[in-house]
Amino acid sequence: MKDQSFRTLLRALEAQGELIRFTKPVHPERNMSAVEWKTYNELGKSSLFTNIEGHPGWTACSQIIADRRKWSIGLDIPEDRLLPEILRRVRQPIAPVRVAAAEAPVKQVKLFGNEANLLDLPTMKVSERDAGRFIASGISFVRDPETGIGNISYHRQQINGRDTTGFVMVPRHARRIYDKYSTQGKGMPVAIVIGVHPAIFFASGFSTSMGLDELTFAGALLGEGVRTVKCETMDLDVPADAEIVLEGEIMPGDHQEPEGPFGEVTGSYPQPSTAHVFKLKAITRRRDAIFYALHCGFPSTDTQSITGLGIEVATFEHLQKVDGGLDLLDLRCLTISGMMMLVLKIRPRTAGQAKVALMAALTGPYQQPKIAIAVDDDIDTADLRQIMWSIATRVHAGEDVILIPNVKVWALDNASPVVEGVETYQRVGTRWMIDATKPPVTMPKERARFDKAMPPNYDTVNLKDFLP
Ligand SMILES: Cc1cc2nc3c(=O)[nH]c(=O)nc-3n(C[C@H](O)[C@H](O)[C@H](O)COP(=O)(O)O)c2cc1C
Repeated sequence: MKDQSFRTLLRALEAQGELIRFTKPVHPERNMSAVEWKTYNELGKSSLFTNIEGHPGWTACSQIIADRRKWSIGLDIPEDRLLPEILRRVRQPIAPVRVAAAEAPVKQVKLFGNEANLLDLPTMKVSERDAGRFIASGISFVRDPETGIGNISYHRQQINGRDTTGFVMVPRHARRIYDKYSTQGKGMPVAIVIGVHPAIFFASGFSTSMGLDELTFAGALLGEGVRTVKCETMDLDVPADAEIVLEGEIMPGDHQEPEGPFGEVTGSYPQPSTAHVFKLKAITRRRDAIFYALHCGFPSTDTQSITGLGIEVATFEHLQKVDGGLDLLDLRCLTISGMMMLVLKIRPRTAGQAKVALMAALTGPYQQPKIAIAVDDDIDTADLRQIMWSIATRVHAGEDVILIPNVKVWALDNASPVVEGVETYQRVGTRWMIDATKPPVTMPKERARFDKAMPPNYDTVNLKDFLP
């Protein structure tokens, strides 16, 4: 079997020069977040902290899957094949495989009662106005009490004490499962898993139909079932190779307490609200557990990248059937846009085809995208400068910018109004599309007018051959 821990990713990142090991002290509330954010945003690198003030002996990492390059390393899929290959694999889910506790590194340390202390974890204060320290990397493993089917998803946790956190649940699958327990007068058992293989990171943020256990998609990405082990205090299975597991319960009866402020994935602070409450029962972990200090706040961070990759894969699949199949060359959910912008790289076969593709992209499986841009086959979608150039030189705004008003938008789209008394999940706003493609291939003369003026032999000249 493969090494299913996230240490393979950390090792690979370090070996390829993608990770910086920080041995100087950092403070979880004062500067750790700024250091890891700048390390990625200024240097493009991941961070590993081995000297965290107040948490002797602990190690924490951050910004480990913030872009396609890092995903490609983590999932061991070539960067330019990422979307089609993930899509191919998740079509064949693989069930998890239970192993004995003795074979599970996550059982090396078991802490119960007062010994299980959330304050021991090197959690950080991420954004300046955050209400306190948060865990954003916790993947919640729950089970539907009626069907017995598992569900995994991220739910951020504001640390409110040794054994208590907030637990934010937007009305999706985990919330529906919680409601089923609540109607039986019970709390929802939950195992919060921190630090796993990137295949599980992806699967946990991937939007699927209710009743499909996303852990089977992680198995599909790995090419083998995820090794799982039974929890100590409840009937739930968790990845045996995880770093840390927090076992507990979401308090019953729709009990909620104030939560936030918290710097959101969009990069700003929504109105603080309330959240359900998690009560800790036990912690199991590796002896030398590595905490995943996942950054949720101003982009670009792992948070936008996890959901962004899910949006890309799901939208890529969604577009396969449009107009008898498009020449869709790439699709990007721009992390910098807080997941609200999609870029389609497309070679339009007929006039207006790019606009049809854009319409479809804005009605995909995810709520987040509100702006979709189509660029042509010569634009590097990894390069924002080329996307901007394309908009500036190929868009006739009167014809190519189209607004679609009065449509449902994402709950976190702050630019759209919130109606007093109506929850943000029902927000109405404007979606828009920008067609920055050249004329279609059927009009070669008109198309040529928009070609890039590039140096002779640009594609074959290798800069390395000329550098001093
Ligand atoms: C880092 C990160 C943090 C997230 N935090 C939350 C959260 O606090 N609450 C929530 O409901 N969804 C959160 N999400 C989104 C859900 O985990 C995601 O939509 C997931 O696919 C939902 O799973 P489900 O469809 O099984 O409900 C987060 C996603 C990521 C990547």
